[in-house]
Amino acid sequence: MSTNTAAWIRAKQAQLEVKSAPYTPPRENEMVVKNHAVAINPVDWITQLLGNLIFPWIKFPFVLGSDLAGEVVEVGKAVSRFKVGDRVLGHAVGAAKKRNSPAEGAFQTYTVILAHMAAPIPSTMPYENASVLPLALSTAACGLFQKDHLALEYPSATPKPTGKTLLVWGGSTSVGSNAIQLSVAAGYEVIATSSPGNFDYVKKLGASQAFDYNSTTVVKDVIQAFKGKTLAGALAVGKRSAEVCLDIVHACNGNKFVSMASTSVSFETLAQRPGRLPILILQIVSSSVSLLVKSRVRNIRTNMINGITLMDNEVSKVIYEDFLPQALADGRFVAAPDPHIVGKGLEYVQAGFDAQMKGVSAKKVVVFL
Ligand SMILES: NC(=O)c1ccc[n+]([C@@H]2O[C@H](COP(=O)([O-])OP(=O)(O)OC[C@H]3O[C@@H](n4cnc5c(N)ncnc54)[C@H](OP(=O)(O)O)[C@@H]3O)[C@@H](O)[C@H]2O)c1
Repeated sequence: MSTNTAAWIRAKQAQLEVKSAPYTPPRENEMVVKNHAVAINPVDWITQLLGNLIFPWIKFPFVLGSDLAGEVVEVGKAVSRFKVGDRVLGHAVGAAKKRNSPAEGAFQTYTVILAHMAAPIPSTMPYENASVLPLALSTAACGLFQKDHLALEYPSATPKPTGKTLLVWGGSTSVGSNAIQLSVAAGYEVIATSSPGNFDYVKKLGASQAFDYNSTTVVKDVIQAFKGKTLAGALAVGKRSAEVCLDIVHACNGNKFVSMASTSVSFETLAQRPGRLPILILQIVSSSVSLLVKSRVRNIRTNMINGITLMDNEVSKVIYEDFLPQALADGRFVAAPDPHIVGKGLEYVQAGFDAQMKGVSAKKVVVFL
């Protein structure tokens, strides 16, 4: 039997510790991947700071991590899409309530993943590039395609133009990078926001126009850009993105829906001042109430994305089975943003958390294993 090692979190606010972990064989619809690269998401360091406030069911010690790329080493009896030796990327869902399993966290050598949350990757694609996709891709897909969100047409190799335009606020985030590409592949025009230094980046991914989210005239400018267009809805990514998207959507014609990926506060200040948590919670509650009132009064629908809900509906198959493998192979979908590799070995996952918390610009923090 293989020996396994994991970057464990033993308690709230404890630094990660690399120690041995059990090797867990796959059940029917699962497979085990030997990870070659893992990527870090904001939720990883936020969970380290907040303990089990986001995932109240998890018990420490736990293994976090959503993004992995590696080689299949064992498949469950019901898995027919993959075989031992396949190169894959996978969205690890160990922190999901239904899974609640350290064996299914990405930050270890061998991770158990659900086969339907994985996709084969082209032989030419390095693992570190593939690892940037899973959670951001899933989150974008939940917001764009789920029936309780924007319910857009699905992406395909031959998209029919829908004649509609989507707003992606935060186009240079990992989630935004995937959202732009997915919606273009589904036949939508995309207007995005980012810093000016990333205008070319979001346009290369498929946005037709880009606006600076920090500009004092951005709301007016984006509304102007939507003149004569039919809105497909807005995907709001980034701090306070939902508030501005509500103002824009209110002034546009079309689908008055804001699908929200982010809360209105950021948590990195807690690293220095953990005592601020009650204030942040109060800010989240008060801004959620204000968003609710603002959206109801204006007749705009909103929904908060949970980037793992696709694992229980048809969107996971649409993305990980029907669309992504061929789109990656054809180069129609790229692994964006580029990886920023912080080191080799599980010992670097903590450095990865720290780097992601400090902030990135159109980059994904990755640890090579
Ligand atoms: N709900 C879910 O299930 C779920 C899942 C994953 C992520 N998220 C959330 O989605 C957000 C993005 O996550 P990520 O991993 O994609 O982030 P990320 O890649 O780490 O985001 C970095 C980017 O954020 C952009 N940015 C910073 N402040 C912004 C603002 N106020 N408005 C718009 N863009 C801003 C920066 O753009 P420039 O460099 O161009 O300035 C930078 O490129 C986070 O809030 C995260 O917590 C939610």
